[in-house]
Amino acid sequence: MTGTIETHTPAVTEFAYSAGFGNEHSTEAVPGALPVGRNSPQRAPLGLYAEQHSATAFTEPRAHNRRSWVYRIRPSAAHPPFVPIDSGSLRSAPLRDAVADPNRLRWGPLPLPQAPTDFIDGLYTMGANGNVLERTGIGIHLYAASKSMTDRYFVDADGELLLVPEIGALVLHTEYGRLHVIPGEIAVIGRGVRFRVELLDEVARGYVCENYGHHFVLPELGPIGANGLANARDFLYPIAAYEDREETVQVVQKFGGRLWAADYDHSPLDVVAWHGNHAVYKYNTARFNVMGTVTYDHPDPSIYTVLTSPSDTPGQANADFVIFAPRWLVGEDTFRPPWYHRNVMSEFMGLVHGVYDAKAEGFLPGGASLHNMWSAHGPDADTYAKASTQELTPQRITDTLAFMFETRWPVVVTDFARTATHLQPGYDAVWQGVRRGFIE
Ligand SMILES: [Fe+2]
Repeated sequence: MTGTIETHTPAVTEFAYSAGFGNEHSTEAVPGALPVGRNSPQRAPLGLYAEQHSATAFTEPRAHNRRSWVYRIRPSAAHPPFVPIDSGSLRSAPLRDAVADPNRLRWGPLPLPQAPTDFIDGLYTMGANGNVLERTGIGIHLYAASKSMTDRYFVDADGELLLVPEIGALVLHTEYGRLHVIPGEIAVIGRGVRFRVELLDEVARGYVCENYGHHFVLPELGPIGANGLANARDFLYPIAAYEDREETVQVVQKFGGRLWAADYDHSPLDVVAWHGNHAVYKYNTARFNVMGTVTYDHPDPSIYTVLTSPSDTPGQANADFVIFAPRWLVGEDTFRPPWYHRNVMSEFMGLVHGVYDAKAEGFLPGGASLHNMWSAHGPDADTYAKASTQELTPQRITDTLAFMFETRWPVVVTDFARTATHLQPGYDAVWQGVRRGFIE
């Protein structure tokens, strides 16, 4: 265990970023570290090793292709064998021993750890779908941590990680640099990127969508036009920063649904310069340009999509990341909360802070709900009674951030999440107070 870890960054500001979703970013922590005019010179500048990270197959269409070139102190190949380790509460699809459950489920917040727990050990799988070895579907996890990763690094070969912090600021130290992330922001760590999580507060808790499928992209805008929803310029990528450590550290890799580990004699975050479009990024949800009705009804919640992971069926997302952010409600003669519905897509929801407008009580920050495919859901009885009788003046929904991981396949819940103490029994009662609606 070491105390502070020396990191090397340009003296611009403590955290500096390069903006633009999917851009060809270029950054160097030491002037001259980035070769000019070629990716792999005979000898890379400063004696560094050139290495390509290919997040898509070489031949994927240019619009989808993701790769970066990194210039590092040692090639990534310099490491000993990985050996399997205990996977704790981390699971992957297919969850062969779990039962696909048609019931609507809701959980309170995951209890915070009693013993010192880092991000890896604090991962807790709620459910999953698809197949991790076929790159379809997602894993849905929570994290609850009380300790920074100092001599430990994580890398997920199975998917990219979308982090939604609920409690606690984080610094994500990654191969591509450092991201400072607070609740209200999200971060995406590209598939195969090594990183460690530093806690800036006593505890950290949040949600993770592990995307086994196509990497997240911005949704098409169609008739909305060239701007709106999450704007590309608001996605922030780190500038290069590297750790120059020569001591034993553990690198934990998630591969094929289980954890493996190897002891390295150096930090894997030794990238001094990089360029490309496969990296890590963050986004502040307060920048989301919320669209909605200015006449009647409200659009389908797909209008709130921040990022989408397309599947091979057009329009059926492997996963959508959708937010319910502060906004004005002005619809005339309109039931304004989310309507009652049943949906072939499956909806996992979480709450970062505030109150979600379809549930007056019981859906708590740090909690979660799962409305699996075709399960009937909508406002609870109190919310319906209020929203169907209130005077429809313009109303601003404030101080709330709920979100949804929506996915085309049903989510199979882990056995331990289906029997957890934070599972709320009797969630169905939310709708039992709904009165008969036929006036004869
Ligand atoms: Fe829904």
